[in-house]
This record gives sequence, C-alpha cells and structure tokens, in this order.
Amino acid sequence: MHIALVSAECAPIAKAGGLGDFVQGLAHELIKAGDSVEVWLPAYDVLRRELISGLAEADAPLQVPFYQQRIHCRLLSGDIEGIPLRLFDPQSEQRFFQRSRIYGDADDAERFAFFCSAVLEHFTQSERPPDILHCNDWQTGLLPVLLAERCGEQAQARTCYTLHNVGYQGKVAPSILDQVGLNSAALMTQDRLADPHQPGMANLMKGGILYAGFVNTVSPRYAWEVQNTEQGMGLQSVFRDNRHKFGGILNGIDASVWGPEVDAQIPVNFSAGSLPKKAVNRRELRTRLGLQEVEKPIFAVVSRLDRQKGVDLIEHGVRYALAEGGQAVLLGSSLDPDINKAFTSLKAELGSGPDCHLELGYDESLAHLIYAGADMILIPSLYEPCGLTQLIAMKYGTVPIVRRVGGLADTVFDAHYSDKSFDARNGYVFDDPTEAGLEDAMSRAIGLWQRFPQYFRQLRVNGMRGDYSWRKPAQDYREIYKRLEQLAAPAQP
Ligand code: ADP
Ligand code: GLC
Repeated sequence: MHIALVSAECAPIAKAGGLGDFVQGLAHELIKAGDSVEVWLPAYDVLRRELISGLAEADAPLQVPFYQQRIHCRLLSGDIEGIPLRLFDPQSEQRFFQRSRIYGDADDAERFAFFCSAVLEHFTQSERPPDILHCNDWQTGLLPVLLAERCGEQAQARTCYTLHNVGYQGKVAPSILDQVGLNSAALMTQDRLADPHQPGMANLMKGGILYAGFVNTVSPRYAWEVQNTEQGMGLQSVFRDNRHKFGGILNGIDASVWGPEVDAQIPVNFSAGSLPKKAVNRRELRTRLGLQEVEKPIFAVVSRLDRQKGVDLIEHGVRYALAEGGQAVLLGSSLDPDINKAFTSLKAELGSGPDCHLELGYDESLAHLIYAGADMILIPSLYEPCGLTQLIAMKYGTVPIVRRVGGLADTVFDAHYSDKSFDARNGYVFDDPTEAGLEDAMSRAIGLWQRFPQYFRQLRVNGMRGDYSWRKPAQDYREIYKRLEQLAAPAQP
C-alpha cells in the first residue's frame, strides 16, 4: 500500500512534541511491514536539513490556488533515516514557513490551510497518488474536506484522521475556507464546519472529523474522554455522532530512537538485565547539570510547559521533591509568555544546584540523558491524549508518577492500587489534579525508593519490560487503511 503521512511535524527534522515522534515511529514501522510511505511536510526554514539526505527539487512545481491568486510552490524530496520525505515550499510573499519556528504565529490557520491546498494540488496531479492520506491534528483537518469537495467521495474515503490534541481545534474565520476554493456559505452550517459553540467560526478539526473515512485519537481512554467528558472541548456531540468511524489506538515509541540498549545519545547503554549501568548515566546527568553526587532520588520533568501538562502541579512537584529530600531536574519549553515568566522566576528562586536544575528550552540530547539518568518522572497532566514521556521514561528504568487521564491511565499501573499483577505494575497514579493528589503519589514513591529499594528496582524492571513498540499500533493502522481502501473501491457491477 502507498501511504502519505501528512503532518506539521516529523522527528528528528521538525519536532515540537510527540506528534513528531508519532510520524517518525509509525513511518518506520509501516516501511518495515513492506508499505510504501512518504511523509509530507511544509518546508520550514527550521528543518534540520543536515539530517535529510538527497534533498532536491522533485516533481514540477505546483501552482496552488490561494487568495484568488496562484502561489508557486516547489516540491522537494529527500530521505530521513530511510523515510521518504516530500516538502512543500511555497514561494509566497507571506513567507509561510520561513518563521524560525513551526507554530505560534497569528496566521497559523492560514499557513496550514495553504499547506492543505498544496497537498491537494499535488495529490490530484501526482502520477502515483497515495492509496491513503493519513492526516494529523487541526493543521490538516481541511484536507478531507477539500478532497470531498474537489475529488468526490471515493477520494474522501481514503483518509484517516488522527487527533493528537483536541485542545487545539483550529477555530478560524470562515473566509479561510474561501481562500482555498471552498464555499464558506455552504459549509458554515451546524452539520458541517460551523463551530458548535462559536457558530460564526469555522472549526477545522470538526471538518476533518466529519469528512475523514476514519478518525482516531491516540489512546482508547482519551477516545472515551472526548466523547463523554469536558475533554471533548465542545466537540463531544460531534465525536458521539461519528462513533461508527471513531476509535482509540495507543501510540508506540520508536525503539531505534528511544532504546537504552542502542541510544547513541547517552553515555552508557543498558537494559533490564544490566540495570546497574543506569548509575553511570545518573552520574553523568548530575555532572552535566552541576548536581551533587548523593544518595537522593532524582525527580525529572521533560515537557512542553503548556496548561495541558498541569504547570502548577509541575512547579509544586519540583518544590515537594526538594522538600522531601530528593533532587529535581526540569527541562521545559513554552510558547506561552505567562508560563515562561512563571518558570523563569521559579528558576531564579530555586537557583541551580546542588539539588535542583531547571533548564528552560528545547534540548533533545539533554532529554535523552534525563530519561537515562533520572529515577522518577512527573507527569501531572490535566489531560493527555497519549503521552510519550511516560513510555520513554519506563523504557529507561525511570518510574513515572502520573495523573489518571488519557493515555497515562492506559499505560501506567500503580505500584499499590492497581488491579494488575505485581509484575505489570510500573509506576504511581493519582486522580485529583491537586497538590495533595500529587504529594500522595510522590510520597509513596519516595517511601518505596528509601525503604524497599529492591521493590523499587522491580518497578523499574517492570517498566522496561513493557511492550511499547510500534508493532501492534502499526498493525491496527494498516488494518484501518485496508478497510478504507475497500470502502473507497468502486462498487462491482
Ligand atoms: P506532547 O506531544 O503533548 O508534548 P508527548 O509526551 O507525547 O507530549 O511527547 C513529548 C515529546 O517531546 C517527547 O519526545 C519528549 O521527550 C519531547 N520533549 C518535550 N519537551 C521537551 C524539551 N523541552 N526538550 C526536548 N524534548 C522535549
Ligand atoms: C500530542 C499529545 C500527546 C501525544 C502526542 C503524540 O501532542 O499532547 O499526549 O502523545 O500528541 O500523539
């Protein structure tokens, strides 16, 4: 099968968070299974071009209709670690993807609407169009709508739409629809793209949900939450109305990137069978961050600092770790000026070392070292569609302390209160998004670390032995692609 993964991110060349990991991991696994895969991305100026091999102008350039003009768009091709890549590079006055970052501009909706329009143009002109277009998040929600309107139901049916975060839906002025050649007057009704709560706005994610052949979120629990709780962020009834084509598929992690046995970015490789070697990584982490070498557990945070992640609880967790005699390491980046300010003053207050280090920014290699060297990771999210940091941490023998939401609830099983057998318990889970809730879980973890180190070690090993690979999720996506192909096939006379 020939599949295009259409996305705003792909690790390691364009990553802001887990969406980048998702595209890289799924692409690798589909290729391993024998599929022909291409990742389609905007040609951002911030792409890590040094990691792309054979980068060159591929097919003839496109003339993409936009704003009643035609924008010249170059098509580049290349390869990242065996994943074929296609980049859409508009030569527009607005310099759509020359913004020194992936997201965060006032005209994001317009930039990604252009991307969808360019993808559609390429799809319709391609000599070998993909059998499946796999779209991701609000940035590509318009694509199934464009396909339906321009190419008809059979093309529309070949779309799979994966939602990584319902907190960002792409609510935009309806005029954006007209810019890409759609008829906003016809589409701005409640049974189409009008936002359920702000009917004057077009909701791009809603469009993707209604028009795609299949829709999924990235964990079964989050799929339930978005239909039945406020986590649907206003789209609950849209999800429920479409449940015949909606589900949850838990993400995997890519073992070639996130494997302590093979990771080239950590000082010493290790596995569940050679756990004492983790201590070398712990020592290196302390040295690199200027922490003292003492018998204290290291609590870590590796996160986008976004409200979703429970930033107040993250701050409290850092303070509580220190108050309870632990060490704290935080690596976090934020697009939100208020959150940035809060963590900058926390950093000024707590200082750096001997037991605490806060690093504000995005640092891939430090992230690897933290997973390898820390003892516990804090993930007190208010909501979490899947969450990869708990999966990565567990692979590196770092015990997760998480809130019972979304994919965290599906993957972390409490050392004390789980209904799983002892050899499947791998962390700590709390319910209330309060300081007391977090403290309860953290103090249980510290207690075990101090008094029953052999049981704590067992928790690490249980986490490391879990199967978080892409094997099964990729099989599920392939199954969905096959069904979509069958649905899209013209009826036999
Ligand atoms: P989300 O996609 O919501 O940010 P996930 O848990 O799915 O959350 O994925 C986060 C990914 O981004 C992980 O690979 C994690 O290691 C990485 N990450 C998050 N923040 C940083 C940071 N400040 N520096 C480096 N990597 C980060
Ligand atoms: C989103 C979610 C995160 C998920 C990731 C990859 O950014 O916030 O929970 O793991 O996408 O699907």
